Amino acid sequence: MVKAVVLGASGGIGQPLSLLLKASPTIDELSLYDVVNTPGVTADLSHISSIAKITGYLPADDGLKKALTGADVVVIPAGIPRKPGMTRDDLFKINAGIVRDLVKGIAEHSPKAFILVISNPVNSTVPIAAEVMKQANVFDPKRLFGVTTLDVVRAETFVQDITGEKDPAKTVIPVIGGHSGETIVPLFSLAKPSVKIPQDKLAPLIKRVQFGGDEVVKAKDGTGSATLSMAYAGFRFAEKLIKATKGEKGIVEPTYVYLPGVEGGDAIAKETGVDYFSVPVELGPSGAEKATNILGDISSDEKQLLEACKNGLKGNIEKGIEFVHNPP
Ligand code: NAD
Ligand code: LMR
Repeated sequence: MVKAVVLGASGGIGQPLSLLLKASPTIDELSLYDVVNTPGVTADLSHISSIAKITGYLPADDGLKKALTGADVVVIPAGIPRKPGMTRDDLFKINAGIVRDLVKGIAEHSPKAFILVISNPVNSTVPIAAEVMKQANVFDPKRLFGVTTLDVVRAETFVQDITGEKDPAKTVIPVIGGHSGETIVPLFSLAKPSVKIPQDKLAPLIKRVQFGGDEVVKAKDGTGSATLSMAYAGFRFAEKLIKATKGEKGIVEPTYVYLPGVEGGDAIAKETGVDYFSVPVELGPSGAEKATNILGDISSDEKQLLEACKNGLKGNIEKGIEFVHNPP
């Protein structure tokens, strides 16, 4: 039996993500939580003839506790999105507190759940979640994931313009690092099957993956950021994790994890100089079972991208940790 919970379920990501989870045969129970509109979203989704039993809660009457009790997987898309001209870091002021308080709830009511953080800035909100779990003595690094799947989805999609591959998802492209601008490092040299990208097209392709979020923010013109593609990506990661926890073998996905707590992660942390980093991670019954070190295989151009990534990530991670220990 799998119980999935969405915190921030009434939002632009929360609603389509909840729809996909409700329709998935891998989920037996789905619980929705938000500060607004969960009764309506829950009533609507409850008419879908799929397996998952659905419940929805607002903060009143211990709603967070009721939503989280018995949870196996908790996905967090709660928080404000960007408007044109903003960076993801500009969201920190509001979203850091939202994520901290929701994770306090997880620490109390479902400490063993797998936690999937979507709320931006992911580079900082994942360290925030880890510190909150540590303070409550319930941190299991194998169970905490920053969802960076949208960067992978974008890399698969954008490279298709060059390769002409009919099904974009058939080309596996590792994307490592973090989830903002230059901290996003797509590794086209390690694509499987390999892809031939003309030299003049490579730099613009990398930039497009790194700044794909800006494309959507601009097109939405002040009404938000990626929601539908993020719901697809968040569901894709959640479903893979659930399948892996049920015993399916060979599932490897890039995700932003606390490296020292995952097998194979120490060496990557030493090499990159950061403790939080997205790498392809083998998923299994206990969650993040093994971090794959592919840094030795990357091209010299990609090594340069990695330098910019590391510098950006360091500050983002420290900011998240500091927020929990010395709240403003
Ligand atoms: P949105 O404003 O449409 O929805 C956010 C929802 O969170 C709202 O329904 C709001 O009521 C709810 N919320 C706010 N505070 C809450 C709290 N304390 N408890 C529970 N719910 C709360 O925003 P969105 O477009 O769905 O984006 C959500 C977040 O996801 C943003 O921070 C955005 O930047 C981020 N995001 C991340 C990725 C990624 O790749 N990781 C991709 C897209 C968006
Ligand atoms: C994205 O990559 O689309 C998200 O992180 C949302 C954003 O702010 O760009």
